[in-house]
Amino acid sequence: MTSPDHWPEIRGIAYGGDYTPEQWPQEVWREDVALMREAGVNLVSVGIFAWALIETSEGVFDFAWLDELLDLLHENGVSVDLGTPTASPPAWFFATHPDARVVTREGVTMGFGARGMASHSSPAYRAAIVRIASALAERYGSHPAVVMWHVHNEYGVPVGEDYSDQSVRAFRDWLREKYGTLDALNAAWGTAFWGQRYGEWDHIGAPAAAPSVVNPAQRLDFARFTDHQLRQCFIAERDAIWAHASQPVTTNFMANQSWTTDMWAWAREVDIVSDDHYLWAADPEGEIGLAIAADLTRSVGGGKPWILMEHSTSAVNWQPRNVAKRPGEMARNSLSHVARGADAVLFFQWRASRSGAEKFHSAMIPHAGTSSRVWREVVDLGGALARLDEVRGSRVAADVAILWDFESFWAQDLEWRPSVDISHAERVRAFYERLWRDGITADFALPGQDLSAYRLVIAPAQYLLSARDAANLTAYVQAGGTLVVSFFSAIVDENDAVHPGGFVAPLRDALGVVVEEFLPLREGALHAVRWSGSASATLHADAWQEDLVLAGADVIATYVDGPGAGKPAITRHAHGTGHAWYLSTRLDAEGLRTVMAEVYRDAGLTASAHPEGLEVVVRRGATADYSIAINHRDEDAVLAIAGDELLSGEPVDGSLVVPAGGVAVVRTARPTTPSS
Ligand code: GLA
Repeated sequence: MTSPDHWPEIRGIAYGGDYTPEQWPQEVWREDVALMREAGVNLVSVGIFAWALIETSEGVFDFAWLDELLDLLHENGVSVDLGTPTASPPAWFFATHPDARVVTREGVTMGFGARGMASHSSPAYRAAIVRIASALAERYGSHPAVVMWHVHNEYGVPVGEDYSDQSVRAFRDWLREKYGTLDALNAAWGTAFWGQRYGEWDHIGAPAAAPSVVNPAQRLDFARFTDHQLRQCFIAERDAIWAHASQPVTTNFMANQSWTTDMWAWAREVDIVSDDHYLWAADPEGEIGLAIAADLTRSVGGGKPWILMEHSTSAVNWQPRNVAKRPGEMARNSLSHVARGADAVLFFQWRASRSGAEKFHSAMIPHAGTSSRVWREVVDLGGALARLDEVRGSRVAADVAILWDFESFWAQDLEWRPSVDISHAERVRAFYERLWRDGITADFALPGQDLSAYRLVIAPAQYLLSARDAANLTAYVQAGGTLVVSFFSAIVDENDAVHPGGFVAPLRDALGVVVEEFLPLREGALHAVRWSGSASATLHADAWQEDLVLAGADVIATYVDGPGAGKPAITRHAHGTGHAWYLSTRLDAEGLRTVMAEVYRDAGLTASAHPEGLEVVVRRGATADYSIAINHRDEDAVLAIAGDELLSGEPVDGSLVVPAGGVAVVRTARPTTPSS
């Protein structure tokens, strides 16, 4: 990394979006810049899909249009996040290098005419991306408009895994590097099973479609390899840029929407973390998924401000039913991202495309033009963000960490698991949602990282847990932390092999339980749990029970019915000076509310007093705190607070009405007492 806080030279909260002027005649460019000024746009991403227009044939560059465009933007005070267009190689590239095409798991060679990179392991592709990244950086490294670099676009989507011959050869090299000997590989992959033992490196392939389930350890390694190869492509471009330019380099992640790349590892390679987020229209509370993505993005970047590189002004075009955003929703979404650490609010895209596959995607300038609700809201949002300059650089502080481990998710997603009803995404959302409704801000964390700053750590779905990471969690509890572990965690090691001693064995000291057997339920079966915490209650759950045997823990809830009837369902164990909870079933939202209320007591946390649906997150600045409030409700909500509301410029003397669907940002003097 060039520098830890290498933020682009730009004023306040950056505002703008992807800009594709190559799709428009030049007279439209002039209208664009005038409208950008009107909307307060100060940053646009340019050139992301323009490889064919910049390198018109191998090694032949046409920079004339880009020169003119960057000058025009600069003259109009709009800074540029310059893309390297390597997510979509030109037709000439594939015609010259047909073996660089990606092959699917089923053996289909991908054609041209859409978008999507070439094989991450193709030497021709690697050479071509370095050539164009170098050429761009050399030419524009000192252009005054260019304030940052946008390498590629959404690595891993639409293609990540590649089963071509080039990829298979690279996979073997990667395995040799990792294991050194075939004996080590055979042991790690458990190849004694189904007679898969390898005697030659050249006999090892990618885990392509096969008659039955392919070795899960091989598949897990292939997922790691894919992530590694994609990251090497990024690093090659980044280094080419660093050789000629000093602006920060990023690439846009897809937190909580794609699991192909390990954001933790990628975040270490970029100068600035950036993320794309689109609401999932089928989810009536998409703002919770948004908050997960934003908190994850902040967390992988170590809490530093980040860039919301893309979101939408209204509907997208790629979901089954593309629901349009309602008035005010775009501003609420934008402020939620800012509340959770974004210092830039950018959209896909500036002007809606007339042609191509994305013509039904919303934009800052919709097809309806500037006489439209969307445009008016775009202008209003630009005005609002311009009043938040001082928020930039402030940080979000969280007392709770939720474990988010891509390797574990990759492993859990493989075939032949005990029940199709259990999913990491579902449990992460369930626990996160509880915290969101309770107004408790969370970070995401890796199981092996230093967790000592958190009062509470939740492991909603830590299926793969190495012995070392288990020891870290155990030490966290020992030292006074509160840990919540949900079922189907600590099951396998790094090779997807069941831990010696059985399920949850590496967490036995912390949890004080042994899982003898999983007891998955039939589809749709519901069951009840008798809660005997601080008050007694009946909780409801589905999908999963376990034959749980106590090894020191106290029983807090018992199965009423189902295969585990009479056995412990939820336990709490004192270990060292902390406590570890184990939840062996899939509780519904109400059940989790009951359990978490008691967990909060152990952790010394309190749910917020705001009405549910009034999202409030605090960003802490050097001299002031900024409470960002987003009212997702259909009625006004009252926030008890004193300070200055920055969007209206009005003082607040103890209580602020946040209108239905509205937003507010209140600056309060920095508390001085150490406990606050
Ligand atoms: C992704 C891409 C963009 C665009 C949007 C549409 O995020 O990065 O180029 O295709 O989706 O939602």
